Amino acid sequence: MSGVRGQFTTRAGFILAAAGSAVGLGNIWKFPYLAGQNGGGAFLIIYLGFILSIGLSVMLAEFAIGRRTKRNPVGAFRHLKGGAWTAIGVMGVFTGFIILSFYSVVGGWTVAYAVKSATGLMASGDAKALGAAFGAFIGDPVEPIIYHALFMLATIAVVARGIDTGIERTCRVLMPVLFILLVVLCVRSLTLPGAAKGVAFFLSPDFSKVDGAMITAALGHAFFSLSLGMGTMITYGSYLARTTNLPGAALWVTSLDTLIAVMAGFMILPAVFAFGFDPGAGPGLTFITLPAVFSKIPFGAFFGVLFFVLLAVAALTSAISLIEVVVAYLVDEKGIARPKAALSSGIAIFLLGIPSSLSLGIWNDYTVAGKGFFDAMDYLASNILLPTGGIFISLFVGWVVFDKVMDGNQGGIGDGFRYVGLWRIICRYIAPLAIAWVLISGL
Ligand code: PHE
Repeated sequence: MSGVRGQFTTRAGFILAAAGSAVGLGNIWKFPYLAGQNGGGAFLIIYLGFILSIGLSVMLAEFAIGRRTKRNPVGAFRHLKGGAWTAIGVMGVFTGFIILSFYSVVGGWTVAYAVKSATGLMASGDAKALGAAFGAFIGDPVEPIIYHALFMLATIAVVARGIDTGIERTCRVLMPVLFILLVVLCVRSLTLPGAAKGVAFFLSPDFSKVDGAMITAALGHAFFSLSLGMGTMITYGSYLARTTNLPGAALWVTSLDTLIAVMAGFMILPAVFAFGFDPGAGPGLTFITLPAVFSKIPFGAFFGVLFFVLLAVAALTSAISLIEVVVAYLVDEKGIARPKAALSSGIAIFLLGIPSSLSLGIWNDYTVAGKGFFDAMDYLASNILLPTGGIFISLFVGWVVFDKVMDGNQGGIGDGFRYVGLWRIICRYIAPLAIAWVLISGL
């Protein structure tokens, strides 16, 4: 199989595809509500700090492992060193499974909201009613699960056919459209009466809000948003041409992802204050605020449909990269045919997503480690599994295979990387120690 791996055709195509993995619900749905819950500006600054000090380096490490080995994460670790290191790849497969189970539930919400926007959701524009409608929708035992199924089906359908120019082409067209729409919505949100309070909340840090839980959330989100710590970027790197400059690509993907998260903050938080919503409202924040914004612009229903369709596509490109880690493993390591691997893992992920969805309604009372099932899955994956993966990926590159991943003749990073020394120090010491410290203090 390994001789016929697909490849991204252009550098820009790859960057947009990797950015397609990174940019998703994490940026547009999760980041604004996390910032809202965790004191706005202070969260933003700590999050940016983690992206710069750790995220960028781990991304480069993953790209280099992927391109050097041209393998799925499990195969990559086994090929480079084997032994216990292979467990990092296995943990990545497991993490992809968990993340996609709840991610797809939210992906389903975006599809549902595209439909609802077309059928009169925004007509009243009454903020309270929009909040109640969202609560009723996600708490329903049937409707969101049907949309979750639709979203998983779409994911399975794409991945069953393989990573090829289809993904690349889709991202190339749709990502720029999403970007333009974000700009338009930021402008609308920022010019609402009362928006200034939201801007102040987002930009002026209140460091009295900083505590262990918040730092853990910021670190977990840096990993989640950049798709790091579980081998997604190893997988994407494995499809990358020799000629692409890896540090440059890592910088591009990181910058695009961060830019879009910050824009989402400017799209949501000013509107939250303008409409008198609670910034700490949690997972519903984006889904309640945006329809209220759409009701305040001409052709709101049209823009609402367009936005939620684009958000669904952005979520889909991330979902593809999540399930691709599982599927590439089953195909490469277990010799299962791609369509079968996609379908069977997709069904299992769908089933695991059902309790997540129900935990927002009829299973509200059941808790795992003091959290609802949905929150527990998110916490386990984002705040524990991804950062733990990040520790070991950094240590692996810094201490075990540094020369191999630098070797340009073998698909590694190659000469001409100006910050090799700094990168090595980050991989060896700074990233593992900082992550371990956050993990331990978060417990
Ligand atoms: N980065 C994606 C987002 O922000 C989610 C994701 C996490 C994708 C981990 C792949 C791996 O929406």
